[in-house]
Amino acid sequence: MTTEAFQRTFGFTPEGEWAAPGRVNLIGEHTDYNDGFVMPFALPHTTRATVARRDDGLLRLHSSDDPTGAVTALRLADLAPGRVTGWTAYPAGVLWALREAGHHVGGADIHYDSTVPTGAGLSSSAALEVVTALALSDLYELGLERGPLARLCQRAENDFVGAPTGIMDQTASACCAEGHALHLDTRDLTQRQIPFDLAAAGLRLLVVDTRVKHAHSDGAYGDRRRGCEAGAAALGVPALRDIPYDELDAALRRLEAGGTGEEVRRLVRHIVTENRRVTRVAALLEAGDPRAVGPLLTEGHASLRDDFRVSCAELDLVVDTALDAGALGARMTGGGFGGSAIVLAENASTDKVTEAITAAFTTKGWTAPRVFTATPGAGARRIG
Ligand code: GLA
Repeated sequence: MTTEAFQRTFGFTPEGEWAAPGRVNLIGEHTDYNDGFVMPFALPHTTRATVARRDDGLLRLHSSDDPTGAVTALRLADLAPGRVTGWTAYPAGVLWALREAGHHVGGADIHYDSTVPTGAGLSSSAALEVVTALALSDLYELGLERGPLARLCQRAENDFVGAPTGIMDQTASACCAEGHALHLDTRDLTQRQIPFDLAAAGLRLLVVDTRVKHAHSDGAYGDRRRGCEAGAAALGVPALRDIPYDELDAALRRLEAGGTGEEVRRLVRHIVTENRRVTRVAALLEAGDPRAVGPLLTEGHASLRDDFRVSCAELDLVVDTALDAGALGARMTGGGFGGSAIVLAENASTDKVTEAITAAFTTKGWTAPRVFTATPGAGARRIG
């Protein structure tokens, strides 16, 4: 499919085809820029790239999902932060980051198509970055390991595109394994693949895409990040990861005594409690007790809503309605202010939960959300 589209667009045969998935984060939200823990898994939805090298320093990009149908041509020599806008900034940023890191990469023709929903908080941009980096690493024989590859993609997003995100999404897309959730320590990037087979336990994880993305989300992300850094600085630690759960109360008292405002204290409380929730969820899954994960998801949502304040009316409605309809647990996932929520439910109650959510949105006069069952897929790979 993508090979044919490449041929139609560029008039010759590509050298290969690669795929990288979107992700859902099970637990560990906003912890990745605090050196903390996260636990995403890959979706079966992928962004695919068919690629051929060029030797004239040109990067030409085309996507089936771009309604303009345009081929964007960029000179590698001209790539610089802020110069490229729109979706092509992500792959262009990857080329830029690879070259900045001293890798010998020349030009390329790339055709993309994707089944990762965009604007849904499911990391379609990380999938786009990672598939590009993997294809170029293979074709130009850079031999990049998955961890450093994810770091380069994060650099593309932070420094080229200009979004101050953490390392979770790129690592999830690059490193997840089918049937597993990925426990990642974002400080030293050590990973643990945790078996995550909900179907075998008679459970399902629903992803509910609210189809809203509130306009202030980018600025609010940066605000939360700066607030966390201020909290760590006031506590004299390199990152909030360094505050153990059993020292949280003492840390909050110290902050209050030192004049740190309530807003920052709440951010600190979310990060410290969220890191503990990741550890507890990992332990429950490893002990074969996935039902007990439910209440921790719901606790995580309350913390994101009340302490970190990154939820919104649509996400709260999904969570409250799902719980009322008998779900085991639910929470927003990803950065927040729209995007998707996840719902853990018994197989037998998923229809009821889905119907209740759809009805609740209809009552509000909101566009119906998109609901699907998420199964843990594979990380980025060559497919052709
Ligand atoms: C976005 C960012 C991630 C992470 C999440 C919140 O998805 O890209 O790095 O910070 O928000 O957990």
